Amino acid sequence: TRVITCDGHLVQHLCCDDGHIIAVHWANYGRRDTTTCSYQRPECEIQNARSSADSLIVCFHSCNGKRSCIIEASNSVFGDPCPGTYKYLEVFNSVNCSSDEGHVIVVLSAEYGRDDSTTCSYKRPPAQLSNTQCSIPTSKVAESCNGRNSCSIKVRNSMFGDPCPGTYKYLEVVYTCESKCLKDPLNDS
Ligand SMILES: *[C@@H]1O[C@H](CO)[C@@H](O)[C@H](O)[C@H]1NC(C)=O
Repeated sequence: TRVITCDGHLVQHLCCDDGHIIAVHWANYGRRDTTTCSYQRPECEIQNARSSADSLIVCFHSCNGKRSCIIEASNSVFGDPCPGTYKYLEVFNSVNCSSDEGHVIVVLSAEYGRDDSTTCSYKRPPAQLSNTQCSIPTSKVAESCNGRNSCSIKVRNSMFGDPCPGTYKYLEVVYTCESKCLKDPLNDS
């Protein structure tokens, strides 16, 4: 994505959905043509189309790897490569997936009930543990947790139904965390 900011203006690079960060590729402060940021500018301020200050380092420090950043296009930030010329800041950026954020839960399977006699058996009478064929699959966990960073569920009959009255039951969930950050949303649009 190419972002142009005319002299004296602030640009806010906003990024992104959870899990994305800004990756700065290239930046230039100055003037590379006579049309960009030329509206209502006198001829003499837009003639010099070959001026540039090395602004990549500033943009890199301000924005690279961040979720958002604000940069001012001005002499005071970048220095003045051509006094008298009306300049602009040009930034090329894209977004990357952050390595440490944006992971969400994907439930692979969830069962409520009992399919062995040892899990959740501490101090329970044998009669509550003997039925080991009463697990039922439930979609409630996926409904509550898929796509979220965290979730909590109260494990009780009223949530899942009671597959075997009198048996002490438990919820068994198999899940993974997947990055929800698979694509570059800026380049998608
Ligand atoms: C973005 O990804 C590219 C390619 O993997 C990598 O070279 C660059 O360092 C990354 N930048 C950030 C800010 O993560």
